Amino acid sequence: MTVQDLRAVERIRDWLSARCGIHYADHKRELLVQRLRRVQRSFAYAGLEQLAHHLIVDPVSEVEIAVISASSTNHTYFFRETDILTRFRDHILPGLAQRDEIRIWSAACSTGDEVFTIAMLISEALGESALKRTTILGTDISAPVIERAEAGIFLERQIAQVPQDLRRRYLSPVGLGQYALSDTIRKCCTFRRMNLKTVPYPFKNTFQIVFCRNVLYYFEPADQIATLSALHGVTEPGGWLITSVTESIRDLPSPWQFVVNGVHQKANP
Ligand SMILES: C[S@@+](CC[C@H](N)C(=O)[O-])C[C@H]1O[C@@H](n2cnc3c(N)ncnc32)[C@H](O)[C@@H]1O
Repeated sequence: MTVQDLRAVERIRDWLSARCGIHYADHKRELLVQRLRRVQRSFAYAGLEQLAHHLIVDPVSEVEIAVISASSTNHTYFFRETDILTRFRDHILPGLAQRDEIRIWSAACSTGDEVFTIAMLISEALGESALKRTTILGTDISAPVIERAEAGIFLERQIAQVPQDLRRRYLSPVGLGQYALSDTIRKCCTFRRMNLKTVPYPFKNTFQIVFCRNVLYYFEPADQIATLSALHGVTEPGGWLITSVTESIRDLPSPWQFVVNGVHQKANP
Protein backbone atom coordinates (compact mmCIF):
# COMPACT_ATOMS: atom_id res chain seq x y z
CA MET A 1 0.00 0.00 0.00
CA THR A 2 1.18 3.50 -0.77
CA VAL A 3 1.49 6.20 1.90
CA GLN A 4 -1.50 7.95 0.27
CA ASP A 5 -3.56 4.76 0.57
CA LEU A 6 -2.63 4.40 4.23
CA ARG A 7 -3.67 7.99 4.92
CA ALA A 8 -6.93 7.46 3.04
CA VAL A 9 -7.73 4.37 5.15
CA GLU A 10 -7.18 6.40 8.34
CA ARG A 11 -9.48 9.17 7.10
CA ILE A 12 -12.20 6.67 6.15
CA ARG A 13 -11.79 4.89 9.47
CA ASP A 14 -12.34 8.21 11.31
CA TRP A 15 -15.30 9.00 9.05
CA LEU A 16 -16.94 5.62 9.78
CA SER A 17 -16.51 6.16 13.50
CA ALA A 18 -17.90 9.71 13.46
CA ARG A 19 -20.71 9.05 11.02
CA CYS A 20 -21.92 5.57 12.00
CA GLY A 21 -20.23 4.73 15.28
CA ILE A 22 -18.55 1.79 13.50
CA HIS A 23 -15.16 1.38 15.13
CA TYR A 24 -12.31 -0.54 13.50
CA ALA A 25 -9.57 -1.33 16.01
CA ASP A 26 -5.96 -1.36 14.77
CA HIS A 27 -5.89 -5.16 14.51
CA LYS A 28 -8.94 -5.05 12.18
CA ARG A 29 -7.36 -2.53 9.79
CA GLU A 30 -6.53 -5.18 7.17
CA LEU A 31 -10.17 -6.32 7.10
CA LEU A 32 -11.27 -2.72 6.56
CA VAL A 33 -8.75 -2.31 3.72
CA GLN A 34 -10.11 -5.42 1.95
CA ARG A 35 -13.68 -4.15 2.26
CA LEU A 36 -12.75 -0.66 1.02
CA ARG A 37 -10.80 -2.10 -1.92
CA ARG A 38 -13.97 -3.89 -3.04
CA VAL A 39 -15.91 -0.61 -3.03
CA GLN A 40 -13.06 1.22 -4.73
CA ARG A 41 -13.06 -1.34 -7.56
CA SER A 42 -16.85 -1.29 -7.92
CA PHE A 43 -16.70 2.48 -8.57
CA ALA A 44 -13.60 2.07 -10.79
CA TYR A 45 -11.63 4.54 -8.65
CA ALA A 46 -7.85 4.64 -9.13
CA GLY A 47 -7.09 4.26 -5.42
CA LEU A 48 -8.39 4.56 -1.88
CA GLU A 49 -7.56 8.26 -1.92
CA GLN A 50 -10.20 8.85 -4.57
CA LEU A 51 -12.66 6.82 -2.51
CA ALA A 52 -11.92 8.95 0.59
CA HIS A 53 -12.38 12.09 -1.52
CA HIS A 54 -15.91 11.07 -2.60
CA LEU A 55 -16.76 10.23 0.96
CA ILE A 56 -15.39 13.22 2.82
CA VAL A 57 -14.48 16.15 0.54
CA ASP A 58 -17.01 15.82 -2.28
CA PRO A 59 -19.53 13.28 -0.91
CA VAL A 60 -21.47 11.08 -3.31
CA SER A 61 -24.37 9.38 -1.53
CA GLU A 62 -24.03 6.08 -3.50
CA VAL A 63 -20.41 5.91 -2.35
CA GLU A 64 -21.40 6.63 1.25
CA ILE A 65 -24.00 3.86 1.21
CA ALA A 66 -21.59 1.41 -0.41
CA VAL A 67 -18.81 2.11 2.12
CA ILE A 68 -21.17 1.85 5.10
CA SER A 69 -22.67 -1.39 3.77
CA ALA A 70 -19.27 -2.92 3.03
CA SER A 71 -17.85 -1.92 6.42
CA SER A 72 -20.61 -3.29 8.59
CA THR A 73 -20.78 -6.93 9.59
CA ASN A 74 -24.23 -8.22 8.70
CA HIS A 75 -23.97 -11.72 10.10
CA THR A 76 -27.34 -12.84 11.47
CA TYR A 77 -29.68 -15.81 11.45
CA PHE A 78 -33.12 -16.92 12.66
CA PHE A 79 -33.43 -17.97 16.32
CA ARG A 80 -30.07 -16.51 17.29
CA GLU A 81 -29.31 -16.88 21.03
CA THR A 82 -32.30 -19.03 21.95
CA ASP A 83 -31.88 -18.49 25.72
CA ILE A 84 -32.71 -14.83 25.40
CA LEU A 85 -35.55 -15.54 23.00
CA THR A 86 -37.02 -18.05 25.44
CA ARG A 87 -36.84 -15.43 28.17
CA PHE A 88 -38.58 -12.95 25.85
CA ARG A 89 -41.32 -15.49 25.09
CA ASP A 90 -41.88 -16.73 28.64
CA HIS A 91 -41.29 -13.63 30.78
CA ILE A 92 -41.86 -10.55 28.62
CA LEU A 93 -44.40 -11.49 25.98
CA PRO A 94 -47.14 -12.59 28.43
CA GLY A 95 -47.18 -8.99 29.72
CA LEU A 96 -48.23 -7.84 26.23
CA ALA A 97 -50.91 -10.48 25.67
CA GLN A 98 -53.78 -8.16 26.58
CA ARG A 99 -52.46 -5.03 24.83
CA ASP A 100 -54.45 -3.59 21.90
CA GLU A 101 -51.20 -2.96 20.06
CA ILE A 102 -47.82 -4.64 20.30
CA ARG A 103 -44.97 -2.40 19.15
CA ILE A 104 -41.46 -3.79 18.82
CA TRP A 105 -38.32 -2.33 17.25
CA SER A 106 -35.39 -4.39 16.02
CA ALA A 107 -32.64 -1.77 15.79
CA ALA A 108 -29.78 -2.88 13.49
CA CYS A 109 -31.80 -5.81 12.13
CA SER A 110 -29.52 -6.70 9.19
CA THR A 111 -31.50 -8.95 6.76
CA GLY A 112 -34.48 -9.14 9.12
CA ASP A 113 -33.89 -12.64 10.54
CA GLU A 114 -34.42 -11.30 14.07
CA VAL A 115 -37.60 -9.44 13.09
CA PHE A 116 -39.18 -12.52 11.55
CA THR A 117 -38.06 -14.70 14.47
CA ILE A 118 -39.89 -12.34 16.84
CA ALA A 119 -43.02 -12.51 14.68
CA MET A 120 -42.93 -16.33 14.72
CA LEU A 121 -42.52 -16.36 18.51
CA ILE A 122 -45.51 -14.03 18.94
CA SER A 123 -47.65 -16.11 16.60
CA GLU A 124 -46.75 -19.31 18.45
CA ALA A 125 -47.13 -17.88 21.96
CA LEU A 126 -50.17 -15.60 21.55
CA GLY A 127 -51.82 -17.10 18.48
CA GLU A 128 -51.69 -16.04 14.84
CA SER A 129 -54.43 -13.45 15.40
CA ALA A 130 -52.04 -11.50 17.69
CA LEU A 131 -49.99 -10.62 14.59
CA LYS A 132 -52.89 -8.42 13.41
CA ARG A 133 -52.26 -6.06 16.33
CA THR A 134 -48.47 -6.35 16.14
CA THR A 135 -46.01 -4.03 14.43
CA ILE A 136 -42.36 -5.00 14.30
CA LEU A 137 -40.09 -2.36 12.81
CA GLY A 138 -36.68 -3.44 11.56
CA THR A 139 -34.06 -0.78 10.83
CA ASP A 140 -30.47 -0.92 9.66
CA ILE A 141 -27.92 1.52 8.31
CA SER A 142 -27.15 -0.67 5.31
CA ALA A 143 -29.43 -0.37 2.27
CA PRO A 144 -28.71 -3.82 0.71
CA VAL A 145 -29.67 -5.71 3.88
CA ILE A 146 -32.92 -3.76 4.20
CA GLU A 147 -33.77 -4.69 0.60
CA ARG A 148 -33.13 -8.35 1.40
CA ALA A 149 -35.31 -8.15 4.52
CA GLU A 150 -38.12 -6.68 2.44
CA ALA A 151 -37.79 -9.47 -0.12
CA GLY A 152 -38.38 -12.08 2.63
CA ILE A 153 -36.30 -14.80 0.94
CA PHE A 154 -33.70 -16.63 3.01
CA LEU A 155 -30.92 -19.18 2.60
CA GLU A 156 -30.81 -22.55 4.31
CA ARG A 157 -27.89 -21.28 6.45
CA GLN A 158 -30.06 -18.48 7.85
CA ILE A 159 -33.04 -20.65 8.79
CA ALA A 160 -31.11 -23.70 10.04
CA GLN A 161 -32.12 -23.04 13.69
CA VAL A 162 -35.84 -22.67 12.96
CA PRO A 163 -37.69 -25.59 14.63
CA GLN A 164 -39.12 -28.03 12.06
CA ASP A 165 -42.79 -27.39 12.85
CA LEU A 166 -42.31 -23.61 12.49
CA ARG A 167 -40.45 -24.14 9.24
CA ARG A 168 -43.41 -26.05 7.86
CA ARG A 169 -45.85 -23.37 8.98
CA TYR A 170 -43.99 -20.23 7.97
CA LEU A 171 -41.40 -21.04 5.30
CA SER A 172 -41.73 -22.61 1.87
CA PRO A 173 -38.93 -23.69 -0.49
CA VAL A 174 -38.62 -21.56 -3.61
CA GLY A 175 -35.66 -23.35 -5.22
CA LEU A 176 -31.86 -23.03 -5.13
CA GLY A 177 -31.75 -23.62 -1.38
CA GLN A 178 -33.92 -20.57 -0.76
CA TYR A 179 -37.03 -20.22 1.37
CA ALA A 180 -39.83 -17.64 1.29
CA LEU A 181 -41.58 -16.44 4.41
CA SER A 182 -45.33 -16.70 4.70
CA ASP A 183 -47.38 -13.53 4.29
CA THR A 184 -48.83 -14.08 7.78
CA ILE A 185 -45.41 -13.34 9.23
CA ARG A 186 -44.35 -10.68 6.75
CA LYS A 187 -47.49 -8.56 7.07
CA CYS A 188 -46.69 -7.24 10.55
CA CYS A 189 -43.03 -6.44 9.74
CA THR A 190 -41.77 -3.24 8.15
CA PHE A 191 -38.24 -2.15 7.33
CA ARG A 192 -36.46 1.20 7.11
CA ARG A 193 -32.93 2.40 6.63
CA MET A 194 -31.78 4.28 9.72
CA ASN A 195 -28.53 5.29 11.41
CA LEU A 196 -28.59 4.58 15.15
CA LYS A 197 -26.14 7.41 15.62
CA THR A 198 -28.60 10.01 14.38
CA VAL A 199 -30.40 10.95 17.58
CA PRO A 200 -33.05 11.67 18.75
CA TYR A 201 -34.99 8.94 16.94
CA PRO A 202 -37.94 10.05 14.82
CA PHE A 203 -40.80 8.00 16.32
CA LYS A 204 -44.16 9.40 17.39
CA ASN A 205 -45.10 6.36 19.49
CA THR A 206 -42.99 4.50 21.98
CA PHE A 207 -42.08 0.82 21.76
CA GLN A 208 -42.77 -1.80 24.41
CA ILE A 209 -39.66 -3.72 23.48
CA VAL A 210 -36.48 -2.79 21.64
CA PHE A 211 -34.07 -5.45 20.41
CA CYS A 212 -30.60 -4.04 19.78
CA ARG A 213 -28.32 -7.04 19.48
CA ASN A 214 -24.81 -7.53 18.19
CA VAL A 215 -24.24 -3.98 17.07
CA LEU A 216 -23.25 -1.98 20.15
CA TYR A 217 -19.86 -3.65 20.36
CA TYR A 218 -18.88 -2.01 17.06
CA PHE A 219 -19.43 1.40 18.66
CA GLU A 220 -17.03 3.49 20.72
CA PRO A 221 -18.09 3.82 24.39
CA ALA A 222 -19.39 7.38 23.92
CA ASP A 223 -21.64 6.20 21.07
CA GLN A 224 -22.79 3.19 23.07
CA ILE A 225 -23.85 5.49 25.91
CA ALA A 226 -25.65 7.91 23.56
CA THR A 227 -27.41 5.02 21.78
CA LEU A 228 -28.57 3.42 25.03
CA SER A 229 -29.99 6.73 26.18
CA ALA A 230 -31.77 7.35 22.85
CA LEU A 231 -33.25 3.82 22.88
CA HIS A 232 -34.48 4.50 26.41
CA GLY A 233 -36.17 7.67 25.15
CA VAL A 234 -38.34 5.75 22.64
CA THR A 235 -39.33 2.91 25.01
CA GLU A 236 -42.46 3.11 27.17
CA PRO A 237 -42.10 3.11 30.99
CA GLY A 238 -41.79 -0.52 32.12
CA GLY A 239 -40.63 -1.46 28.59
CA TRP A 240 -37.65 -3.60 27.69
CA LEU A 241 -34.29 -3.50 25.95
CA ILE A 242 -32.87 -6.77 24.70
CA THR A 243 -29.20 -6.89 23.76
CA SER A 244 -26.97 -9.85 23.08
CA VAL A 245 -25.92 -11.79 26.20
CA THR A 246 -22.33 -11.14 25.24
CA GLU A 247 -22.76 -7.36 25.18
CA SER A 248 -22.20 -6.07 28.64
CA ILE A 249 -23.89 -2.69 28.88
CA ARG A 250 -23.96 -3.11 32.62
CA ASP A 251 -20.69 -1.27 33.08
CA LEU A 252 -21.80 1.72 31.05
CA PRO A 253 -23.64 4.67 32.57
CA SER A 254 -27.16 4.21 31.23
CA PRO A 255 -30.72 4.79 32.44
CA TRP A 256 -31.63 1.11 31.93
CA GLN A 257 -32.17 -1.22 34.87
CA PHE A 258 -30.24 -4.44 34.55
CA VAL A 259 -32.44 -7.58 34.81
CA VAL A 260 -30.26 -10.45 33.58
CA ASN A 261 -27.53 -10.59 30.93
CA GLY A 262 -29.05 -9.22 27.74
CA VAL A 263 -32.29 -8.02 29.37
CA HIS A 264 -32.83 -4.48 30.66
CA GLN A 265 -35.93 -2.63 31.75
CA LYS A 266 -37.06 1.01 31.80
CA ALA A 267 -38.24 2.07 35.25
CA ASN A 268 -42.01 2.41 35.67
CA PRO A 269 -42.48 5.41 37.92
C1 LIG B 1 -24.07 -8.32 13.27
S1 LIG B 1 -25.48 -7.52 12.59
C2 LIG B 1 -26.68 -7.85 13.87
C3 LIG B 1 -28.02 -8.26 13.33
C4 LIG B 1 -29.06 -8.71 14.38
N1 LIG B 1 -29.39 -7.65 15.29
C5 LIG B 1 -28.56 -9.93 15.15
O1 LIG B 1 -28.24 -9.81 16.33
O2 LIG B 1 -28.49 -11.01 14.55
C6 LIG B 1 -25.07 -5.79 12.90
C7 LIG B 1 -25.89 -4.84 12.04
O3 LIG B 1 -25.70 -3.52 12.55
C8 LIG B 1 -25.80 -2.63 11.46
N2 LIG B 1 -25.23 -1.33 11.87
C9 LIG B 1 -23.92 -1.01 12.09
N3 LIG B 1 -23.81 0.28 12.44
C10 LIG B 1 -25.07 0.80 12.45
C11 LIG B 1 -25.60 2.09 12.73
N4 LIG B 1 -24.82 3.11 13.07
N5 LIG B 1 -26.95 2.25 12.64
C12 LIG B 1 -27.75 1.22 12.29
N6 LIG B 1 -27.30 -0.02 12.01
C13 LIG B 1 -25.97 -0.23 12.08
C14 LIG B 1 -25.01 -3.34 10.37
O4 LIG B 1 -25.33 -2.85 9.09
C15 LIG B 1 -25.42 -4.80 10.60
O5 LIG B 1 -26.48 -5.18 9.75
